[in-house]
Amino acid sequence: MEKLKHIDLHKIPNHVAIIMDGNGRWAKGKGMQRVFGHRNALTAIRETADTASEIGVKFITLYAFSTENWNRPKFEVDALMSLLVTTLKKELPEFQRKNVKVNAIGNLDSLPKNAQKILAKVIDDTKTNNKITLTFALSYGSREEIVNAIKNISKKVVNSELDIEKINEKIINNHLYTFNLPDVDLLIRTSGELRISNFLLWQIAYAELYFTDILWPDFRRGHFFDAIIDYQNRERRFGKTSEQIETNE
Ligand code: FPP
Repeated sequence: MEKLKHIDLHKIPNHVAIIMDGNGRWAKGKGMQRVFGHRNALTAIRETADTASEIGVKFITLYAFSTENWNRPKFEVDALMSLLVTTLKKELPEFQRKNVKVNAIGNLDSLPKNAQKILAKVIDDTKTNNKITLTFALSYGSREEIVNAIKNISKKVVNSELDIEKINEKIINNHLYTFNLPDVDLLIRTSGELRISNFLLWQIAYAELYFTDILWPDFRRGHFFDAIIDYQNRERRFGKTSEQIETNE
């Protein structure tokens, strides 16, 4: 039976973030090079984004390349960057057809020039789309993001543009790469690893965490529904008691 029937369309997470892990192991398991796994990750991305959009998720954020991933062999880094460029070029008409707004977070200046160029074009061309916002985390590291935010806030304090007593969570939010995104409601990590790996540390403060053994290239619509159903069975208390949640206090 289609799992969609088990989903409460009134309780859909607004923002889902995904650590797409396991491409390398998936490829090795087939006797292939790691890059083969990255290429086969695209179907999973497409299907997940389409399914998320279909059920009313408004924001989906994908960990595509971390600051630490620059330390991988040059061959793999180059292959990932070229996959990014060809994918963005190829998918642009699909983003338009599906009304997807594309966004990116991370140290984008460190990406190769051709990747920066196509990324800027795709972001600009899709900026008025509004069915779902698809954010790629590229050369992204959460600690680096927080360091940057602190530097930028400090500069404003030093220049007397900001009173130190006015610094609050909202000000910090506004200085993160994710300033235009809401908090994460659900974080999914594939491949059985139980780690956050420097992804959206600030933004997942109250997120529900979902881990699955499925390797990312195998992740499909049904697996995404499993994560949503699991999320919907949790009670999100945000520090309150169950009784307070029940009586809407
Ligand atoms: C983790 O698997 C995946 C990555 C480090 C890269 C994610 C990239 C993609 C899903 C494809 C390219 C993205 C775009 C936007 C075109 P891993 O290589 O760490 O796998 P392993 O843990 O099995 O070694």
